[in-house]
Amino acid sequence: MNKNQNKLKIGLLGAGTVGSGVVKALQNNDFVEIKKIGVKDLNKKRDFFTNLNSNNPALTGNLSEIVSDPEIGIVVEVLGGLNPAKELVTLAIKNKKHIVTANKDLIATYGPELFDLAKENNVQIQFEASVCGGIPIINTLKQTLSANNFKKITGIFNGTTNYILTEMLNKNLSFEVCLKEAQELGYAEPDPANDISGRDSAYKIAILASIAFRERIKIDTVYTEGIQKITLEDILLAEELGYRLKLIGLAKKESDGKIDIRVHPAFIKKTNTLSSVFGANNGVLVEGDLVGELTLIGKGAGSMPTASSVAGDINLLVAQISSSQKPNPQFVCQHTDFAKIRPVSETTNCYFLRIRTEDKAGVVGQIGTMFGKHDVSINTLTQRGTNQDNTASITLLTHLVKEERLQRALAEIKNTNVVKQVENVIRVLD
Ligand code: NAP
Ligand code: HSE
Repeated sequence: MNKNQNKLKIGLLGAGTVGSGVVKALQNNDFVEIKKIGVKDLNKKRDFFTNLNSNNPALTGNLSEIVSDPEIGIVVEVLGGLNPAKELVTLAIKNKKHIVTANKDLIATYGPELFDLAKENNVQIQFEASVCGGIPIINTLKQTLSANNFKKITGIFNGTTNYILTEMLNKNLSFEVCLKEAQELGYAEPDPANDISGRDSAYKIAILASIAFRERIKIDTVYTEGIQKITLEDILLAEELGYRLKLIGLAKKESDGKIDIRVHPAFIKKTNTLSSVFGANNGVLVEGDLVGELTLIGKGAGSMPTASSVAGDINLLVAQISSSQKPNPQFVCQHTDFAKIRPVSETTNCYFLRIRTEDKAGVVGQIGTMFGKHDVSINTLTQRGTNQDNTASITLLTHLVKEERLQRALAEIKNTNVVKQVENVIRVLD
């Protein structure tokens, strides 16, 4: 395609945090122009219109009109959520439009169905922005690192929760205040429940694991725990013990072919690169047999970093469309089998435990005995003084132990009179 001639027409579904960034990012693009933008509220003030110097794209509340417009070659979906995104993307594919999306909910939930449909209709779906905002991890795995057999991917995949944990640690602010700030900065989902509960990170690690291990992952098989139960005390204790508390997603292919895939808060060593990923930044640590360890760190959320990935996907499609190339097979989903998942009860970890007990002689001995009975070996145990209600706060770090063993020990410990509450259980990663 010649520069500025016959610019390829884009239909943009959504003009919120990401969509408005996409409008700005494409403003001076020589090869594409946005023809129509679909939104919910036609009366909302859109600051990008004041900056545009060429013909303004038409704003419409009728999104089906965009996905059926014969002039539009690429539909960019940045609405979020499953509905109406799935229906509109499906229609767009059936109408032979290529898709670019930042929607991890959609890809992690309906990816297999949509990729099959795209193949049938000879169009492509690009979704770089769906994982880690501005970090180019998806196309790096698909193409640049494609010669590797991947062993493990570990990462911080959610900007909102990383921002909250960072602000709580550095500024001693409450969870609620930090969440509000993350929302105001455009990092959080419209409903931040998926950020906080770990679901957003689960979508992202499922997408990456599927690409890296070339198997489809059913999203509900990803063990997911969020940061709802994390307190400032946990964050500070992690620091004191030489760790940092992060919401981690990991996926590991094991020797029996099963995939250990999970999202949960974790104590990670301060020597681990991911411990220095702060604020809304994300970090992904990839372990491949050829490349070794590789870490990518960058802005995981926010308008322009995410728009950078969306616009990059658009450029990738334009290059293929304009040269009449067949889609590069590396960018098209080729695998169809579903992965076998290792249940979290079968995983082996070290654990940090915070337990409130009666403050009297023999309590520590009783707890130690119960752990011992279930073969849970204690690395350190500290009583951290007496509380105002005369209970004692005890913290423990265990050695490596199978999760089901730890859970059996905890079930027994919770039932003893001397234990008032097991206040938190947090996995410790190497
Ligand atoms: P957002 O700010 O809430 O924007 C959503 C846009 O979609 C708005 O323009 C909204 O219209 C429009 N919309 C939503 N539902 C609609 C409906 N039923 N009919 C018509 N228009 C509808 O969301 P966002 O933060 O840009 O996120 C968009 C997508 O990008 C999500 O999938 C998100 O997970 C993903 N993502 C976001 C980030 C980030 O940093 N925010 C980073 C990476 C990926 P109105 O403007 O009229 O309300
Ligand atoms: N809400 C998401 C986050 C946006 O905080 O990471 C980027 O996917």
